[in-house]
Amino acid sequence: MTASSRKIFVTNALPYANGDIHLGHLVGYIQADVWVRFQRMCGNTVHYVCADDTHGTPVMLRAEKEGMSPETLINRVHGEHLRDFTDFGVAFDNYHSTHSPENRAYAEDIYKKLREAGMIETRSIEQFYDPVKQMFLPDRFIKGECPKCGAKDQYGDSCEVCGAAYTPTELKNPYSAVSGATPEMRSSEHYFFRLSDEKAVAFLREWTQATNADGSRRMPPEASNKMREWIGEVGENKLSDWDISRDAPYFGFEIPGAPGKFFYVWLDAPIGYLASFLNYAGRVGIDVADFIDPEKAAAAGTEMVHFIGKDILYFHALFWPAMLKFAGYRTPNFLNVNGFLTVDGAKMSKSRGTFITARSFLDHKLNPEWLRYYFAAKLNSNIEDLDLSLDDFVAKVNSDLVGKFINIASRCAGFITKRFEGKLAASDAAALDAFHAPETLAAVSRAYNNRDYSTALREVMRLADLANVYVNDQKPWELAKDPAQVERLHQACSTALNQFRALTILLKPVLPALAAQVEAFFGVSPFIWNDLDKPLPAGHAIQQYAHLMTRIERKQIDALVEANKQTLGTVEAKPAEAADTAKTTAKKTEAPAKKAPVEEEAAPAEISIDDFSKVDLRIAKIVAAEHVEGAAKLIKLQLDIGEERPRQVFAGIKSAYDPALLVGRLTVMVANLAPRKMKFGLSEGMVLAASDASGEVPGLFILSPDAGATPGMRVK
Ligand code: MSP
Ligand code: ZN
Repeated sequence: MTASSRKIFVTNALPYANGDIHLGHLVGYIQADVWVRFQRMCGNTVHYVCADDTHGTPVMLRAEKEGMSPETLINRVHGEHLRDFTDFGVAFDNYHSTHSPENRAYAEDIYKKLREAGMIETRSIEQFYDPVKQMFLPDRFIKGECPKCGAKDQYGDSCEVCGAAYTPTELKNPYSAVSGATPEMRSSEHYFFRLSDEKAVAFLREWTQATNADGSRRMPPEASNKMREWIGEVGENKLSDWDISRDAPYFGFEIPGAPGKFFYVWLDAPIGYLASFLNYAGRVGIDVADFIDPEKAAAAGTEMVHFIGKDILYFHALFWPAMLKFAGYRTPNFLNVNGFLTVDGAKMSKSRGTFITARSFLDHKLNPEWLRYYFAAKLNSNIEDLDLSLDDFVAKVNSDLVGKFINIASRCAGFITKRFEGKLAASDAAALDAFHAPETLAAVSRAYNNRDYSTALREVMRLADLANVYVNDQKPWELAKDPAQVERLHQACSTALNQFRALTILLKPVLPALAAQVEAFFGVSPFIWNDLDKPLPAGHAIQQYAHLMTRIERKQIDALVEANKQTLGTVEAKPAEAADTAKTTAKKTEAPAKKAPVEEEAAPAEISIDDFSKVDLRIAKIVAAEHVEGAAKLIKLQLDIGEERPRQVFAGIKSAYDPALLVGRLTVMVANLAPRKMKFGLSEGMVLAASDASGEVPGLFILSPDAGATPGMRVK
């Protein structure tokens, strides 16, 4: 296998479906995306997938609080997450959901094989139960007084006042964070993955310390060392069995053969990597076995690489490889682990406004590639926390990207178009040497491949400095005044543009949108790494230069921070680190002055009950949903309302829903609307959707009946 023909399946951690994407999340997603783009530029094949992590108690309770089904909630969030990633240039081949048929099938298969391998065991455990809400409570939904310092309203696992760690049963005067009721101890049967089994321990001790067959590491050294501590030395077995079941009510997959028992969210979450891949592979014709069957994967030489944050290392370095191994699946080749984002040296904070959502960053017209560049410039392969210093962010983007990089083109391009009919001259070879030097390119390439982007970009900026020295020496603006220097002007500007081109190629994994603009400016096909072999020749025609990037102003950042300030006291579950629970984001309370003026929608005129009964509303099951080619807003639905054949309806909900996730849902349709012939076909009815006329709450929301309704039922 040569280095240029790698076949890599790459994933990012699946974000929880009950919170917004924030700048902290983006560290790991941008890190992975840069790596994927670099690999592709080198000619490697990469399949890059992700999904929403949709199951668990927090999603269930959040949906209930918002008065919707969990399916409706996860559908909405899926659209939001995908849009955030796309807008930050994080280009997954597939963005799926753990609440999908593929994931259920894989979860059941893995569970069945683990059972057959004797790795599953059941046992009764005692747990806090909320008698009002009638559910077992995850640790984070139990509060009480700290057993050490007596502080009130502390969570079930640790005290935020004195820092003590404990179990929920040690809390004094415990109460349920869901209902406020005093929880009772109740016992119930749970399913366990036997991680403490000698076989599992021996496997993990080896797996976490050894290298792959080709000698490459499986995780950063710090991670291996952590695992050694967690697993313990031979004879000292520190691993406990892993509780993989939860009792109803739970939003997740029911365990086959165990009514009322569900897979714990962390069991099916990483399986979601495979589910997303399968969903994609089916569409594009990849044989998944080459990537997940151990023998076939070894024969095909495929790799599986996960990008995760440090808080979820335990799940990915212990539970996940053990699950895969004992179910007969291939194990990962590499875990890339990112540290946590801090802002101005401190943990992101809602009250300080530094818990910045991806969406607000974009809404404030900040260029996502500024952030990609800043993160990349600070990322290396260690598990270090990364600080977004806001002053440094402004300074670095302005000086590196605008001052050093873009400036080269903006000072030279105009002369070529105005004076030389847009055609380049032969470049000054000596001035390009450094930009095509094999050892330099190899160093940058190695750094990208090793995820040491800070080193790669430092090298690129060193070259940018050389280009600036060249332009300053040549002074094209002065050459332009002297008719005798026409040829030198032509050569200097051509050389500088070739330097700029090389820098763009080197920066393309980090700045894909900018690189696309530069490709258009040069009138060339998408840059690949091999384009660094040689410059553009004499006679090559370029396009008119359009300004490529603006400077950031500090006041834009101040406005962003101001808009992200939230009042405290509305968070009811503790942000999860590596647990059952996900982050429950606080309700955003914007300063009243910033609220968009509410547009009053004229209330429709009164109607009689007879008028209303003319509308035939029916429960409809969405049996198929697909995008409509050439229609920006429409999804084509097939709706079963108990008739002989489903109704075809075109619904303007494309902006809010992924068709794949609509299939199987129940909704409400107007069944007696006169059929309408549209450009794309006949529409035989209408689905109902809610929207906020003021535009304050973005999105569209289709309706869902309560459980029990069946297709065709009349709604009145
Ligand atoms: N749902 C789990 C992952 C399941 S993977 C099978 C989860 N979700 S998360 O939304 O909390 O986090 C998603 C990713 O973002 C994780 O890799 C997590 O480590 C990372 N980060 C979340 N907050 C972060 C920072 N503040 N800084 C850097 N990375 C952060 O965990
Ligand atoms: Zn305490």
